[in-house]
Amino acid sequence: MLIVLQPRSFSPEQTTIWSFPNRGKWATHSGEYRGNWSPYVPRNLILRYSKPGDWILDQFSGSGTTLVEAKLLNRNAVGVDINLQSVSLSEANLKFECETQSKIFVRKGDANIIQYSSNIDGDISLMDEQDFIDAMQKAASESYRVLKRGKYCAVMIGDKRLHGNVVPLGFQLMQCFLNIGFKSKEIIIKEQHNCKSTDKWLNVDGNFLMLAHEYIFVFYKESCFHRA
Ligand SMILES: C[S@@+](CC[C@H](N)C(=O)[O-])C[C@H]1O[C@@H](n2cnc3c(N)ncnc32)[C@H](O)[C@@H]1O
Repeated sequence: MLIVLQPRSFSPEQTTIWSFPNRGKWATHSGEYRGNWSPYVPRNLILRYSKPGDWILDQFSGSGTTLVEAKLLNRNAVGVDINLQSVSLSEANLKFECETQSKIFVRKGDANIIQYSSNIDGDISLMDEQDFIDAMQKAASESYRVLKRGKYCAVMIGDKRLHGNVVPLGFQLMQCFLNIGFKSKEIIIKEQHNCKSTDKWLNVDGNFLMLAHEYIFVFYKESCFHRA
Protein backbone atom coordinates (compact mmCIF):
# COMPACT_ATOMS: atom_id res chain seq x y z
CA MET A 1 0.00 0.00 0.00
CA LEU A 2 1.24 3.48 -0.88
CA ILE A 3 1.28 5.76 2.18
CA VAL A 4 1.63 9.53 2.28
CA LEU A 5 4.90 10.17 4.12
CA GLN A 6 4.73 13.91 4.78
CA PRO A 7 2.02 16.35 5.90
CA ARG A 8 0.22 17.98 2.99
CA SER A 9 1.11 21.45 4.21
CA PHE A 10 3.43 22.30 7.06
CA SER A 11 4.82 25.56 8.35
CA PRO A 12 6.89 25.61 11.53
CA GLU A 13 5.29 27.22 14.58
CA GLN A 14 6.53 30.76 15.24
CA THR A 15 4.82 31.67 18.53
CA THR A 16 4.44 30.18 22.00
CA ILE A 17 0.84 29.08 21.34
CA TRP A 18 0.40 25.88 19.34
CA SER A 19 -2.87 24.38 18.16
CA PHE A 20 -3.42 21.41 15.84
CA PRO A 21 -7.16 20.84 15.34
CA ASN A 22 -6.30 18.22 12.72
CA ARG A 23 -3.83 16.10 14.59
CA GLY A 24 -2.02 14.79 11.48
CA LYS A 25 -2.35 11.43 9.75
CA TRP A 26 0.66 11.08 7.48
CA ALA A 27 2.95 8.02 7.43
CA THR A 28 1.78 5.52 10.07
CA HIS A 29 0.44 8.11 12.54
CA SER A 30 -2.99 7.60 14.05
CA GLY A 31 -4.67 8.97 17.15
CA GLU A 32 -5.33 5.51 18.58
CA TYR A 33 -2.71 5.20 21.33
CA ARG A 34 -3.89 6.68 24.63
CA GLY A 35 -2.05 9.92 25.37
CA ASN A 36 -0.15 10.04 22.12
CA TRP A 37 0.83 13.43 20.84
CA SER A 38 0.05 14.99 17.52
CA PRO A 39 2.96 14.36 15.13
CA TYR A 40 3.03 18.11 14.55
CA VAL A 41 4.52 18.48 18.05
CA PRO A 42 7.67 16.35 17.59
CA ARG A 43 7.95 17.58 13.96
CA ASN A 44 8.19 21.18 15.17
CA LEU A 45 10.57 20.30 18.00
CA ILE A 46 12.83 18.11 15.87
CA LEU A 47 13.09 20.66 13.03
CA ARG A 48 13.76 23.59 15.35
CA TYR A 49 16.14 21.96 17.82
CA SER A 50 18.09 19.29 15.92
CA LYS A 51 19.94 18.73 12.66
CA PRO A 52 19.83 15.81 10.20
CA GLY A 53 21.95 12.98 11.58
CA ASP A 54 21.54 14.04 15.24
CA TRP A 55 20.47 11.45 17.82
CA ILE A 56 17.12 11.92 19.57
CA LEU A 57 16.00 10.12 22.73
CA ASP A 58 12.35 9.63 23.70
CA GLN A 59 12.22 7.94 27.13
CA PHE A 60 8.41 7.71 27.05
CA SER A 61 8.07 6.66 23.43
CA GLY A 62 4.54 5.16 23.57
CA SER A 63 3.33 4.37 20.06
CA GLY A 64 6.49 5.84 18.53
CA THR A 65 5.22 9.18 17.16
CA THR A 66 8.57 10.86 17.83
CA LEU A 67 10.49 7.92 16.39
CA VAL A 68 8.43 7.95 13.18
CA GLU A 69 9.05 11.69 12.82
CA ALA A 70 12.77 11.18 13.46
CA LYS A 71 12.85 8.58 10.69
CA LEU A 72 10.97 10.85 8.26
CA LEU A 73 13.23 13.82 9.09
CA ASN A 74 16.53 11.96 8.78
CA ARG A 75 17.44 11.93 12.47
CA ASN A 76 18.62 8.88 14.42
CA ALA A 77 16.58 7.95 17.47
CA VAL A 78 16.28 5.72 20.51
CA GLY A 79 12.89 5.08 22.07
CA VAL A 80 12.32 3.61 25.52
CA ASP A 81 9.00 2.60 27.05
CA ILE A 82 8.20 0.59 30.16
CA ASN A 83 5.33 -1.18 28.37
CA LEU A 84 6.35 -4.00 26.03
CA GLN A 85 3.12 -3.60 24.03
CA SER A 86 4.05 0.02 23.30
CA VAL A 87 7.48 -1.12 22.13
CA SER A 88 5.84 -3.61 19.73
CA LEU A 89 3.44 -0.93 18.50
CA SER A 90 6.33 1.46 17.85
CA GLU A 91 8.16 -1.27 15.94
CA ALA A 92 5.05 -1.84 13.81
CA ASN A 93 4.62 1.91 13.20
CA LEU A 94 8.25 2.16 12.09
CA LYS A 95 7.78 -0.47 9.38
CA PHE A 96 7.60 1.72 6.29
CA GLU A 97 10.06 2.55 3.57
CA CYS A 98 11.42 6.05 3.17
CA GLU A 99 14.52 7.56 1.63
CA THR A 100 16.31 8.66 4.81
CA GLN A 101 19.23 6.73 6.32
CA SER A 102 18.04 7.01 9.93
CA LYS A 103 18.94 4.43 12.55
CA ILE A 104 16.03 3.93 14.95
CA PHE A 105 16.03 1.65 18.00
CA VAL A 106 13.21 1.01 20.45
CA ARG A 107 13.56 -0.92 23.70
CA LYS A 108 11.58 -1.79 26.80
CA GLY A 109 13.01 0.13 29.75
CA ASP A 110 12.45 2.55 32.60
CA ALA A 111 13.15 6.23 31.93
CA ASN A 112 14.30 6.59 35.52
CA ILE A 113 16.88 3.78 35.45
CA ILE A 114 16.27 3.51 39.22
CA GLN A 115 15.17 -0.04 40.04
CA TYR A 116 11.75 0.02 41.68
CA SER A 117 10.75 -2.67 44.15
CA SER A 118 9.12 -5.72 42.60
CA ASN A 119 5.58 -4.68 43.51
CA ILE A 120 5.84 -1.25 41.85
CA ASP A 121 5.87 -1.44 38.10
CA GLY A 122 7.28 2.07 37.56
CA ASP A 123 4.58 3.25 35.16
CA ILE A 124 4.35 6.99 35.94
CA SER A 125 0.73 7.13 34.83
CA LEU A 126 -0.27 4.92 37.78
CA MET A 127 1.47 7.02 40.42
CA ASP A 128 -0.03 9.51 42.83
CA GLU A 129 1.05 13.13 42.53
CA GLN A 130 4.09 13.05 44.82
CA ASP A 131 5.43 9.75 43.44
CA PHE A 132 4.92 11.10 39.93
CA ILE A 133 6.93 14.25 40.68
CA ASP A 134 9.65 12.18 42.41
CA ALA A 135 9.84 9.89 39.36
CA MET A 136 9.99 12.87 37.02
CA GLN A 137 12.79 14.38 39.08
CA LYS A 138 14.77 11.19 38.39
CA ALA A 139 13.78 11.29 34.70
CA ALA A 140 14.94 14.94 34.55
CA SER A 141 18.23 13.94 36.10
CA GLU A 142 18.71 11.10 33.58
CA SER A 143 17.78 13.43 30.72
CA TYR A 144 20.39 15.95 31.87
CA ARG A 145 23.02 13.23 32.26
CA VAL A 146 22.62 11.76 28.77
CA LEU A 147 22.01 14.99 26.82
CA LYS A 148 24.97 16.61 25.07
CA ARG A 149 25.88 20.13 26.12
CA GLY A 150 24.34 22.82 23.90
CA LYS A 151 21.31 20.60 23.11
CA TYR A 152 17.63 20.64 23.98
CA CYS A 153 15.10 18.56 25.88
CA ALA A 154 11.31 18.97 25.49
CA VAL A 155 8.46 17.67 27.64
CA MET A 156 4.71 17.93 27.16
CA ILE A 157 2.36 17.72 30.15
CA GLY A 158 -1.13 18.83 31.21
CA ASP A 159 -2.40 19.79 34.65
CA LYS A 160 -5.22 17.93 36.37
CA ARG A 161 -8.18 18.93 38.47
CA LEU A 162 -8.81 17.43 41.89
CA HIS A 163 -11.83 18.29 44.07
CA GLY A 164 -12.48 21.31 41.87
CA ASN A 165 -8.95 22.73 42.16
CA VAL A 166 -6.13 22.68 39.63
CA VAL A 167 -3.12 20.56 40.53
CA PRO A 168 -0.28 22.41 38.77
CA LEU A 169 1.58 19.31 37.60
CA GLY A 170 3.05 21.23 34.68
CA PHE A 171 4.82 23.82 36.81
CA GLN A 172 5.92 21.16 39.29
CA LEU A 173 7.46 19.13 36.48
CA MET A 174 9.13 22.22 35.04
CA GLN A 175 10.73 22.84 38.42
CA CYS A 176 12.19 19.28 38.40
CA PHE A 177 14.07 20.09 35.19
CA LEU A 178 15.24 23.50 36.45
CA ASN A 179 16.41 21.92 39.74
CA ILE A 180 18.79 19.66 37.86
CA GLY A 181 20.45 22.51 35.94
CA PHE A 182 18.46 22.90 32.72
CA LYS A 183 17.73 26.41 31.48
CA SER A 184 14.18 27.25 30.41
CA LYS A 185 14.27 27.91 26.66
CA GLU A 186 10.53 28.13 25.95
CA ILE A 187 7.19 27.62 27.67
CA ILE A 188 4.64 26.77 24.97
CA ILE A 189 0.89 26.54 25.51
CA LYS A 190 -0.67 23.81 23.37
CA GLU A 191 -4.40 23.89 22.89
CA GLN A 192 -6.05 20.52 23.49
CA HIS A 193 -8.44 19.14 20.90
CA ASN A 194 -10.57 16.00 20.74
CA CYS A 195 -9.96 15.15 24.38
CA LYS A 196 -11.99 12.00 25.15
CA SER A 197 -13.27 13.30 28.53
CA THR A 198 -14.51 16.69 27.19
CA ASP A 199 -18.19 15.70 26.95
CA LYS A 200 -18.19 14.27 30.46
CA TRP A 201 -16.84 17.50 31.98
CA LEU A 202 -19.07 19.80 29.93
CA ASN A 203 -22.09 18.13 31.54
CA VAL A 204 -20.89 18.41 35.12
CA ASP A 205 -22.30 21.23 37.26
CA GLY A 206 -19.59 23.20 38.98
CA ASN A 207 -17.85 26.50 39.13
CA PHE A 208 -14.73 25.66 37.19
CA LEU A 209 -13.29 25.99 33.72
CA MET A 210 -12.49 22.97 31.59
CA LEU A 211 -8.74 22.47 31.28
CA ALA A 212 -8.09 22.86 27.56
CA HIS A 213 -4.34 23.32 27.30
CA GLU A 214 -1.09 21.51 27.91
CA TYR A 215 2.43 22.82 28.32
CA ILE A 216 5.40 22.04 26.16
CA PHE A 217 8.53 22.96 28.10
CA VAL A 218 11.73 23.25 26.11
CA PHE A 219 14.89 23.03 28.21
CA TYR A 220 18.46 23.78 27.25
CA LYS A 221 21.67 22.24 28.59
CA GLU A 222 24.24 25.00 28.53
CA SER A 223 27.39 24.58 26.46
CA CYS A 224 29.65 25.27 29.42
CA PHE A 225 29.43 25.73 33.17
CA HIS A 226 28.68 29.23 34.40
CA ARG A 227 29.92 29.81 37.94
CA ALA A 228 27.76 32.11 40.10
C1 LIG B 1 1.77 9.77 27.12
S1 LIG B 1 2.47 8.24 26.63
C2 LIG B 1 3.60 8.74 25.37
C3 LIG B 1 2.95 8.81 24.04
C4 LIG B 1 3.90 9.09 22.91
N1 LIG B 1 4.41 10.45 22.90
C5 LIG B 1 3.15 8.83 21.59
O1 LIG B 1 2.93 9.79 20.83
O2 LIG B 1 2.73 7.68 21.38
C6 LIG B 1 3.53 7.90 27.97
C7 LIG B 1 4.26 6.59 27.84
O3 LIG B 1 5.17 6.50 28.92
C8 LIG B 1 5.30 5.12 29.27
N2 LIG B 1 5.88 5.08 30.62
C9 LIG B 1 5.27 5.25 31.82
N3 LIG B 1 6.17 5.17 32.82
C10 LIG B 1 7.39 4.97 32.25
C11 LIG B 1 8.71 4.83 32.76
N4 LIG B 1 8.96 4.88 34.06
N5 LIG B 1 9.73 4.65 31.88
C12 LIG B 1 9.48 4.59 30.53
N6 LIG B 1 8.25 4.70 30.00
C13 LIG B 1 7.22 4.89 30.85
C14 LIG B 1 3.88 4.56 29.11
O4 LIG B 1 3.92 3.17 28.88
C15 LIG B 1 3.37 5.35 27.89
O5 LIG B 1 3.54 4.62 26.70
